[in-house]
Amino acid sequence: MRINVNVNGRDYIREISENRLLLAFLREDLGLTGTKEGCGAGECGACTVILNGKTVNSCLVLAAEADGGAVETIEGEAQNGKLTELQKAFHKNHASQCGFCTPGMIMSLKAFLKDNPNPNEHQIKEAMEGNFCRCTGYRQIIEAVQDCCGTQKEKEGLKHV
Ligand code: FES
Ligand code: FES
Repeated sequence: MRINVNVNGRDYIREISENRLLLAFLREDLGLTGTKEGCGAGECGACTVILNGKTVNSCLVLAAEADGGAVETIEGEAQNGKLTELQKAFHKNHASQCGFCTPGMIMSLKAFLKDNPNPNEHQIKEAMEGNFCRCTGYRQIIEAVQDCCGTQKEKEGLKHV
């Protein structure tokens, strides 16, 4: 079958088999290898991307389901070498060590922060529930999110509100 998918703002038309997974489509057909395959079973979150505004485990979604839709992956984040505020906060707070979980974690947290720009720690932890990290113990990731929210507030002149 033929699908037409917008990935990170660019349209792709490809012939695929009906059972092609979105993860394989992104990594193997489009060469977007930033999205990682961990468990392949919907457990670890390494393969998280945003499909039509919602996070999905791309190891569980068919590429055909993205036909006519829009996918956001880690490759769409930094532009012209300029990191997003969340990526900068990850770097500053050592929230990425081996880095395997980072693309999925960033995409989950990006979608979360869009709807919850001022989360408390409990909400951040809940948002990270589907994304496993074997290196950081999660503390640095939580601090990165808090740091990012603080930076956003500063930018909006809300630091002391
Ligand atoms: Fe998709 Fe683990 S690889 S959830
Ligand atoms: Fe290694 Fe998270 S940084 S798994």
